[in-house]
Amino acid sequence: MAIITLTATFTAQADLEWAYQVLDESLLPQRDLDIDLEALRTVPGSSLQRTQEQIDDHWNPPDWFPNDHYAPVPEVVARGAGQNVRACAACHGYTGAGHPESSHLAGLSVGYIVRQMADFRSAANRSPSGSSAVRVDRNWMNRFEPTEAQIREAAEWFAGLEVIDWIDEVIETDTVPRTYIGDGRMRHIHPDGGTEPIQNRIIEVPQDWELATARHPDSGFTVYAPVGSVARGEELVTTGGASGLTVQCSICHGEGLKGLGDVPRLNGISPLYAVRQMNDFRTGDRDGTLASLMTLTVASLTDEDIVAIAAYLATLDP
Ligand code: HEC
Ligand code: HEC
Repeated sequence: MAIITLTATFTAQADLEWAYQVLDESLLPQRDLDIDLEALRTVPGSSLQRTQEQIDDHWNPPDWFPNDHYAPVPEVVARGAGQNVRACAACHGYTGAGHPESSHLAGLSVGYIVRQMADFRSAANRSPSGSSAVRVDRNWMNRFEPTEAQIREAAEWFAGLEVIDWIDEVIETDTVPRTYIGDGRMRHIHPDGGTEPIQNRIIEVPQDWELATARHPDSGFTVYAPVGSVARGEELVTTGGASGLTVQCSICHGEGLKGLGDVPRLNGISPLYAVRQMNDFRTGDRDGTLASLMTLTVASLTDEDIVAIAAYLATLDP
């Protein structure tokens, strides 16, 4: 029997900061500054019309295709619940596919979602600053205070959604289009053009700027990753790498990484989200009840390994 020894090296990781997508208003292109907040917009195939201001309403995000839901949408998903609970669909979308700056919820189990909500909450209780939190989301999830009944309802609805293919392409390259982080923390290709070195980053941009800023429920994303990262990621994920660098992921995440019981799916998830999670397990920002199973898995990985794994996961069919 092989004995796997994992050594833990916990250091503050500043080098994956790009995955947290922080808005720098000074870099916004004129196009974004010129958006007319009052003008009515729509998306192909929908009869709904909304202004950008209404589209960005966190308590009433646009439901462009209201007849497409497999079951009635719970109130908390569509409208939130008062000041301290914003509508889940505003950030996670009506298809539960989420955005690179938030997360997917479709395809996760009820038990897993409920556990994460508890971890986000106990984080807020323990440390308002987030420093000793159980699970830290630098932006949103620690602020919300839904009741257990609302969590349950939302979890059941999201868990019942069909998983859609959200990543259209993974392109390995040394050079990427110049990008910027827009309002809402999504990265976009800069309308003025230009390229830059990819370095050890993953660049994830919507295929269609118009549809993405309209919160279209199923307009996908393009992923740029460093050359060689997909093959390296595949090796780490499927074998654990040389001399027990990590552990074969399917042992816990199931065949095809489709999820196993309350262990979440990893197939076809946003690589930016995956990078943030692996980094958070490593730094301790994600330290909930079952996070210890991941802590050892990621302890010895370098930033390059994490980028490679995330790039590979993005290539898998959801
Ligand atoms: C204003 C934006 C926003 C709203 C509204 C929001 N979320 Fe989130 N949520 C996020 C972000 C951002 C993350 C990713 C955190 C990270 O990257 O670590 C997240 C992550 C999560 C996760 C973790 C997913 C995983 O795979 O572990 C769950 C579960 C979740 N949210 C549930 C909900 C529920 C339920 C609601 C509604 C009550 C909700 N969220 C409303 C922004 C939001
Ligand atoms: C020993 C079991 C185990 C192994 C092996 C394992 N994981 Fe996990 N993983 C988990 C558990 C359990 C969770 C959920 C933790 C929680 O509830 O906070 C998780 C969560 C994750 C998440 C966050 C998903 C989300 O939706 O937030 C990522 C990303 C991840 N694992 C990647 C990997 C990768 C990549 C590998 C292989 C290199 C791997 N895991 C191997 C048990 C494991």
